[in-house]
Amino acid sequence: MNAPADISKAFASQPDAVMGYREFVLGSFKFRRDEYFAHISWTTRDGRPLSHTMDIGAFLSALMRDVAWGFFYGGVNFDEVIGTVNHYSSVDLQAGAFNGTMKAAGVDIKENFPTDQIREVFETMLDDWTNAGFDPFAAPQETGSAYGRKNGDNKAAITRARELATRCVGLKGDLALRTDERGAPINRQFADVPQDSPELHPEPGFENEVHAFNLFAFLSRSQVTWNPSFTSVVKYSYMCPTTEEHILPIMHSNDRVEWFFQMSDSIDWDCAHKDTGKPMARVIMKAGDMAAMPAYCRHQGFSPKRSMLLVWENGSPKLVYEIQNGEAPEVPVSF
Ligand code: PHB
Ligand code: FE
Repeated sequence: MNAPADISKAFASQPDAVMGYREFVLGSFKFRRDEYFAHISWTTRDGRPLSHTMDIGAFLSALMRDVAWGFFYGGVNFDEVIGTVNHYSSVDLQAGAFNGTMKAAGVDIKENFPTDQIREVFETMLDDWTNAGFDPFAAPQETGSAYGRKNGDNKAAITRARELATRCVGLKGDLALRTDERGAPINRQFADVPQDSPELHPEPGFENEVHAFNLFAFLSRSQVTWNPSFTSVVKYSYMCPTTEEHILPIMHSNDRVEWFFQMSDSIDWDCAHKDTGKPMARVIMKAGDMAAMPAYCRHQGFSPKRSMLLVWENGSPKLVYEIQNGEAPEVPVSF
């Protein structure tokens, strides 16, 4: 993980005398928090001051994912108003740019920053605004409160690092320890998930080449929600399973087609046009269902009970430009 961000940076104010939080400036944007809310303000395209307010827990949960995922694929919308768009060496920060009403009224804004610059501001803000006891990656029932005046920090929770496997997880020479091997507790909502391991019968001489592990047992011990991790990478085919509970803290506007396989329980998705926010579809996914999200939609999932979802991404760095040029389709299949 990166070294702790330097809080004395020019983009951060001194802590507020009453609330204890710092204010942050990035381009035309200002960020301030109080006991309940994040306040984002900017100057509109036609020069007027405008502001937006978000529940602080929802804001920090979205910010956590934007930071941890390196701004993800395409757009990360914190809500209907603010968000980021990843250009893979720079990032747009926007307010209202993908909100049809705000855009028509001319009160939107979009500014581009080098990735390192916006990352540093976001990481510092996440650290300063996250109090002891609040874990922005955890399900609401599994974390303390985000509210109140400045009260310590939770650096351990906000700097969780991905563990990288050097070869198939579990094979000799791989250093990553799986959650089940590490003895991480089984989540209360996955108490019924079998923990047995698959039987392996490699031919003599291939014991170090063949392996399998129980993915469901692995996922049943996940400490975080809405955080896809890579379990297999075959060229640009990335299988990213994840455990989901409550609401995906962002609305994701992908820049490519993305597949979902609902491996247990259920998730309801709201899908909207990514340029305007106009509602397009409700997708009700039950265990065993698969769906593909076209590249022109944005989506947000609602998981009433902790569930297991496999997100399948095409990680080709050229794909976004091939779609822009019309060389690759925005939809998975044309009927
Ligand atoms: C998505 O935006 O496609 C997404 C993000 C995080 C998840 C699941 C899906 O955990
Ligand atoms: Fe997505």
